[in-house]
Amino acid sequence: VIEQVKAREIFDSRGNPTVEADVILSDGTLGRAEVPSGASTGEKEAVELRDGGTRLMGKGVSKAVNNVNTEINAALKGADPFNQGHIDQLMIALDGTPNKARLGANAILGVSMATARAAAIATHQPLYRYLGGTDLELPQTFHNVINGGEHADNGIDIQEFMITPVERTSFRDGFEKIANTYHTLKKVIEKAGYQTGLGDEGGFAPDLNSSEEALQMLHEAIEQAGYTPGKEITIAFDAAASYFYNKNTKNYDFEDKTYTPAELSDYYANLLKTFPEIISIEDPYSEDDWDNFATFTQKYGKQVQIVADDPVCTNPALIRDAISKGMANSILIKLNQIGTVTETLEAIRLARKNGYTTMMSHRSGETGDTFVADFTVATNAAQLKSGAPARSERVEKYNQLLRIEEELGEDSTRLAHFPDDVSFD
Ligand code: PGA
Ligand code: ZN
Repeated sequence: VIEQVKAREIFDSRGNPTVEADVILSDGTLGRAEVPSGASTGEKEAVELRDGGTRLMGKGVSKAVNNVNTEINAALKGADPFNQGHIDQLMIALDGTPNKARLGANAILGVSMATARAAAIATHQPLYRYLGGTDLELPQTFHNVINGGEHADNGIDIQEFMITPVERTSFRDGFEKIANTYHTLKKVIEKAGYQTGLGDEGGFAPDLNSSEEALQMLHEAIEQAGYTPGKEITIAFDAAASYFYNKNTKNYDFEDKTYTPAELSDYYANLLKTFPEIISIEDPYSEDDWDNFATFTQKYGKQVQIVADDPVCTNPALIRDAISKGMANSILIKLNQIGTVTETLEAIRLARKNGYTTMMSHRSGETGDTFVADFTVATNAAQLKSGAPARSERVEKYNQLLRIEEELGEDSTRLAHFPDDVSFD
């Protein structure tokens, strides 16, 4: 049984405070987890409890830590760590709000993840095996190699430009192709006379003139690394359009121009035409603009994967709404958007049951914790985005996948990148 639950304030990859939780079992087993934090957060995300005031720019998490050490500890003492659903339900009930605002989703998620880890250790299983059972597959990984939007101080409004390996003989082979392309991209950016400093997710953050220029650089880097764009390596992007939506005019203020929703659709269509290697577009429209998001899906959803992040925030109720409105054909999954392992599993199940693909995701503020890598394999989520192949808080997730591939064998590598039950022809 659970003997004690405790937490402490640690720091994330941006130097901001975050929660680390320990779950200690009666046999002495320690499960530990660190909680990530987003910058371009959805409005409907579960509440990340921060102290406010002046200490650490108001971002301290001492209240969340205290909630773990007092109320959550009291509620979980003696509970069964192997019943994840029950543990998570106890915390949801104890919190008592619809969005975990009282105890904090950062407090609750830390304990939820640490419980799973303690249970895995106590049963001598890797975390992916404890959570996932058998017949597991390595994901297709999406690597954000040019950072824009809220993740960099440059003029590009598309937030994430990603490359992803399609043709590969193994996860390791795919990752090597990505590393080669990343290093080549650095040369392409240098040659064009831009800085090669990094953004929050380990991608380069050059002060380019436009998103087209970023895509052109990816295209060139893939070729110069010796690959064919659209064959071995393809491109995906997260527009994170909530951040350039103008709520007053209902238009999009994007890179010095204003686009109506229909013009924005044409803009994306033109990108797809110029760069046919684009296979996935995340958040092309704002979280406040579901109708145009759905219209765009109807028009282009057969051609590319269209991922919903901010509008649904890993929230099963919102995902259900989005599905009923025909919005997107893929759901982005982030544990800390909803705040428990159990609800995240429910979100994944719901998406898959309705023929949607799922892309698991890190946050722009990360830690050394590799929980999300195991979780991706455990759920056969098929896709994972965890930043560039640079900066340890990003690369450790991929390193964990290399270890898991070694354990599972290369047969576990998904060669086709989307689940069989979904087609994008
Ligand atoms: P965030 O960005 O972690 O800063 O929210 C990730 C995303 O928008 O997908
Ligand atoms: Zn996003």
